[in-house]
Amino acid sequence: MTKGTDPRPPLDPAALAGLAPRWRVEVVDETPSTNAVAAQRAREGEPEGLVVTTEHQTAGRGRLDRVWETPARSAVALSVVLRPDVPGARWPWLPLLTGVAVTEALRGLGYDAGVKWPNDVLIATGDGERKVCGILVERIEVAAGSTTGDRGPAAVVGVGLNTSMSAEELPVATATSLAVAGGAPVDRTEVLVAVLERLGERYREWLADPAALGTTYAALSVTVGRAVRVELPGGNVLAGTATRIDADGRLVVAHDGTETAVGAGDVVHARLA
Ligand code: BTN
Repeated sequence: MTKGTDPRPPLDPAALAGLAPRWRVEVVDETPSTNAVAAQRAREGEPEGLVVTTEHQTAGRGRLDRVWETPARSAVALSVVLRPDVPGARWPWLPLLTGVAVTEALRGLGYDAGVKWPNDVLIATGDGERKVCGILVERIEVAAGSTTGDRGPAAVVGVGLNTSMSAEELPVATATSLAVAGGAPVDRTEVLVAVLERLGERYREWLADPAALGTTYAALSVTVGRAVRVELPGGNVLAGTATRIDADGRLVVAHDGTETAVGAGDVVHARLA
């Protein structure tokens, strides 16, 4: 193929190297799961700042034991090792923080993005909202007998963002890609750099000032204020109006004259009038 005509070019290592020293980005050609690679490195004592990304993720891990698969070079799949030195009670904010960073990065690139609680990133299309990005944060404990010193637990922050998938390649009708939503080719390296830059900024801010994130999250949320159905982990369903996000990152739902704070679940938005 003539140089410059590949519709799905590989990531640009030189641009990714420019993210140092905050991020040390490693590109693997193909892997089942970048989260699995990053988790193994975290268990072995990898310091904060490693980013594992790939040209082709073949069996990515999704929430609720789902699989997250994408054709080669059609998505940005990345996993970041963080070691936040904060109380465990604050960890549930990490996936929400990541949703904020991705949403801001996409808005900066011109997409009409918003975050659906807890951390799916949606894009508004002429045909309603569609999911463009999923986030999976895994907590990794230090291996027993580790000789890597006392680094404490790690968070592996996994982000799967559909960049160049065609309409035919989308896994479900509720998904989209940047290329489909924007109607134009996408530079995966540019998207990856923008996400990591925003993630670095938001993470630094959150460590210093946790309350600021709540305000930003609410402003970017496309869930708060909406009629919702929440499918709870045990199989129950809660229907009501999402009123706010509480200090623990839970979604507060008003229903039947009372309020319930939900820490985990799948949210379905009622269609906007
Ligand atoms: C979801 O189910 O919405 C979350 C999907 C998270 C997928 C990403 S892709 C990069 C990283 N590696 C994985 O194995 N999973 C996450």
